[in-house]
Amino acid sequence: MTHQEAKPRFEPVPTAASDSPPRFAHPSEKEFAQILDFYGLRWAYEPYSFPLRWDGDSIAEMLTPDFYLPDLDLYLELTTMKQSLVTQKNRKIRRIREIYPDINIRLLYRKDFHRLLAKFGFGPLIESGVPGINRVLLSDHQVQQKVEELGKMLSADYAQRQPVLVGVQRGMVCFMADLMRKITLPVMMDFMSISHYGGADGDGLRITKDLDIELDGHDVVLVEDIVDTGMTLNYLMSHLRSKGAASVEVCTLLDKRARRIVDVSIKYVGFEVPDEFLVGYGLDYLEKYRNLPFIGVLKPEGG
Ligand code: PRP
Repeated sequence: MTHQEAKPRFEPVPTAASDSPPRFAHPSEKEFAQILDFYGLRWAYEPYSFPLRWDGDSIAEMLTPDFYLPDLDLYLELTTMKQSLVTQKNRKIRRIREIYPDINIRLLYRKDFHRLLAKFGFGPLIESGVPGINRVLLSDHQVQQKVEELGKMLSADYAQRQPVLVGVQRGMVCFMADLMRKITLPVMMDFMSISHYGGADGDGLRITKDLDIELDGHDVVLVEDIVDTGMTLNYLMSHLRSKGAASVEVCTLLDKRARRIVDVSIKYVGFEVPDEFLVGYGLDYLEKYRNLPFIGVLKPEGG
């Protein structure tokens, strides 16, 4: 066999990956892709296969690493802890390194995803490792699925109409941005700001920035990240109605019903949540944590 004939054997083979969203073989791969997206790392799913063994001219064995990260020039093969799989994959990876010495490839346990990303300088550490977070209550994936569901419901209920989505700054920012993109109707959007200065039954609320859009005759959907005592909502509902809206409904991602003081009617609820201090996906503690892609429970002080 000449060198010319042998050479193509030692080259990765492009897969049939297309531009369309990849069909992940395992949910953990999708989760990993989301983590990479969160950190702004470019990736390709299974772009190449590496022939490992040949039977005459045909390929008898190959490995198609799950991801290629062009920014790090790194191939990654994900694995669970199942020992039989790990042994087999380790063998294949050793073989790749022998045949393709220039290839940078790693076997990655699911539990190591976060550590690896931190090692390459992409942080903060997510979900399991955010300082101050006790546990993840709702993962990024759970939140996104729910937002999609709510988007579908609103699209069906407001068909043929052009609702105005109203947000009260600042907690709803993530929810509003994701929700509006899941609504398949033309929508309008406006924001209000309020300040709390004490007092009972919402008496202590003051509007510091009112709407710019005239609501006269419009159907309004008030988009909230969380309803807690209900006082904010109660105040806002009467304010919006007084502006001549044809209808006002509420869509909240989280409902902390256990803490309700003022009973308000909420048509669209994402999750009912326990009476714990929640942060992330727009919710803050002293203005921190708003940018976490998941909803977590804050660790008690000194915890
Ligand atoms: C949150 C949330 C609601 C309000 C609900 O805002 O966005 O507007 O609390 O609480 P309630 O039901 O007890 O009235 P927050 O005051 O924390 O401000 P933020 O949106 O800037 O985070």
